[in-house]
Amino acid sequence: MSDKILDVKGLSGGYGDITIVRDVNFSIGKGEVVCLAGRNGVGKTTLMKLLSGSLPPVTGQISLNENDVSGLNAFERQQKQISHGLQEQSVFGGLTVRDNLSLTGKWGKSPLVDRLLEAFPIIEKRYDVQAGKLSGGERKLVSFCRALAENGLITLLDEPTEGVQPENIERMGEVILEQAKQGRSFIVAEQNLSLIEQIAHACWVMDHGELKSLYPSSPDLRGYVVKDLLI
Ligand SMILES: Nc1ncnc2c1ncn2[C@@H]1O[C@H](COP(=O)(O)OP(=O)(O)OP(=O)(O)O)[C@@H](O)[C@H]1O
Ligand SMILES: [Mg+2]
Repeated sequence: MSDKILDVKGLSGGYGDITIVRDVNFSIGKGEVVCLAGRNGVGKTTLMKLLSGSLPPVTGQISLNENDVSGLNAFERQQKQISHGLQEQSVFGGLTVRDNLSLTGKWGKSPLVDRLLEAFPIIEKRYDVQAGKLSGGERKLVSFCRALAENGLITLLDEPTEGVQPENIERMGEVILEQAKQGRSFIVAEQNLSLIEQIAHACWVMDHGELKSLYPSSPDLRGYVVKDLLI
């Protein structure tokens, strides 16, 4: 087996007759963290939905560990270890924080859960609160912890930092890097340049539904991405 975890070829898709994501091709290695940047509305979330299975592809192939998963739905892909924390509605407002986390079936006593609770002590303090009563930033932390606790081969995070305070964003970055060192791969759609600088082994910039530029991690990464976003 190669070190390539996820291989995407000619992936296109969108909503009804409207094609948003066009002919996307990339691959991701074991333990690799790839960020996905791009202006509002360019198709980042749509690409994440196509990868998670919550939106069926129109064309293309998605292979996980050399097995074609393109025809599988989101639940089936989750079983194959594609975990995701998508941008909208990933937390159920009517359930408590504890119940939201328990949905993974993996929120038990484990070093990974202990690490997440250590990084984000607010989670345990809010265990019995209905998620609908949390702040937007707190809901993002619940969604992040659930996706991380799933412990998938590949984890898709869509704008995990929206509304999250800076020290918690930095802790998210630390947890992602620790997990990546253990061989997990991540795709993170993100606008926060500090997080991108902290975690990215590479950063794709998306435009009009296409992956336009790939930048490897470098001291100049922020400058390259900003320049691309301004054009
Ligand atoms: N459910 C939907 N039905 C129809 N069109 C949609 C739907 N969701 C998104 N779109 C359209 O698809 C395009 C890409 O949206 P998408 O949410 O993928 O962008 P994004 O890059 O994630 O933006 P943001 O940075 O604001 O999160 C937009 O033009 C949007 O209006
Ligand atoms: Mg989005």
